[in-house]
Amino acid sequence: MLDKPNRNFLANNSSPIGNTIAKLIANQPGDYSLQQAFYTSPEIYRFEIDNVLMKHWHCVGHQSQIAEAGQYLVYDIDKESIIVTRAQDGEIYAMSNVCRHRGSRICDGSGKAEGNTLVCPYHAWSYGLDGSLQHARMMPRNFDKASHGLTRLPVRVAQGLILVSLSESPLEIDTAIQTVDGIYGNYDWANAKVIHQNKITFKANWKLALENQVECMHCGPAHPEFSDLHGMGLPNEAQLRQELVERTKALDLNFVCNDLWALNAPEGHEMTFADRVPMKPGVLSATSDGNPVAPIMGNLPAHDGAFSLYYVGPHNHFITYSDYGGMFCYSPKSADETTLTFTWLVRGDAKEGVDYHREKVTWLWDVTSAADKKIVEDNHLGVLSRFYNPGPYALPIEYKTARFTKWYLEAMMRAVETLPAEDAA
Ligand code: FES
Ligand code: FE
Repeated sequence: MLDKPNRNFLANNSSPIGNTIAKLIANQPGDYSLQQAFYTSPEIYRFEIDNVLMKHWHCVGHQSQIAEAGQYLVYDIDKESIIVTRAQDGEIYAMSNVCRHRGSRICDGSGKAEGNTLVCPYHAWSYGLDGSLQHARMMPRNFDKASHGLTRLPVRVAQGLILVSLSESPLEIDTAIQTVDGIYGNYDWANAKVIHQNKITFKANWKLALENQVECMHCGPAHPEFSDLHGMGLPNEAQLRQELVERTKALDLNFVCNDLWALNAPEGHEMTFADRVPMKPGVLSATSDGNPVAPIMGNLPAHDGAFSLYYVGPHNHFITYSDYGGMFCYSPKSADETTLTFTWLVRGDAKEGVDYHREKVTWLWDVTSAADKKIVEDNHLGVLSRFYNPGPYALPIEYKTARFTKWYLEAMMRAVETLPAEDAA
């Protein structure tokens, strides 16, 4: 069974959903996959989105996607939609994509705001790039525009990654930002540029997608292309890691790794993780022949035969090789649908067709993401069955998956405990 703090947990809940979750947690075997309802119940999905995920930070894109004033992008999660803009003063703003007149969505996809103004397509109220209401068509002369701007959301930019929270009181993010500086500063991700993006819909619960994301037990059977190149999961991984430490030292590079992920995150702080992992001997990048396909990034003096991982929050995972990087940003849509936005980056001044060819850069993670979609969707189909029961994680190789579900259960338990009185009554 799951380790439980000494809390008045089961007795606390007379709210139907709180009671349901409390009973499930009480019966959850430790280091096993979750019980069926955690993956399938729309009521549990609604509870976890509202009570667990909203205070976390979500990576909505990279700043190179909105490099010029007036450019914007749209990020969707659950039933929410967020507009992220670059204003004339260079600032990046995030705001709810909900018109303050009668609630229409304003922007659809990314684009450039004509005249630096966002215009609602319904009745043409218009907003500045910071979300302030500029023109409220056909409203009285004395209408209070100042109090009808778009709802602004907390936003931070770290190594070019745009992080947004949908909560007024998000988790503390400074440590996670220092973490990305400590590992991706060497690659100068702040000045990298996006060259391609794929949005992939998994017909699966978000937790199944994330459980898969953090383990490489499946890499052998599901990802032959990945497994041919990466040292992760090899019997001699420890030795390869030691050799990487020595190589890194010889290159006079300093990467700061840490593990404040899942339950290691201090109370009230966003979770984060950074690690350096070797490629297979002789492999320099994750490409069809193991050779780099784009200019070396940042201040790396040489291709170092390694990749660097960074996580922030439960949903945002990043990988970078010495010549290109990738962003895995998951956003739940419903209990049985999750979007993975996969984004590729290269050095900011690299020229397409000269310094790199897009299809060579995208090859590995195109095939790997497609394979992940298939295995995660098959997992979800199996979990829907009357014959599904939680199964044991294979430790240590699935240890991060076990850590992820432990974090999830703990976060749900805390959320149930702190339900407001009116919900628990
Ligand atoms: Fe946007 Fe009416 S709903 S202007
Ligand atoms: Fe995978």
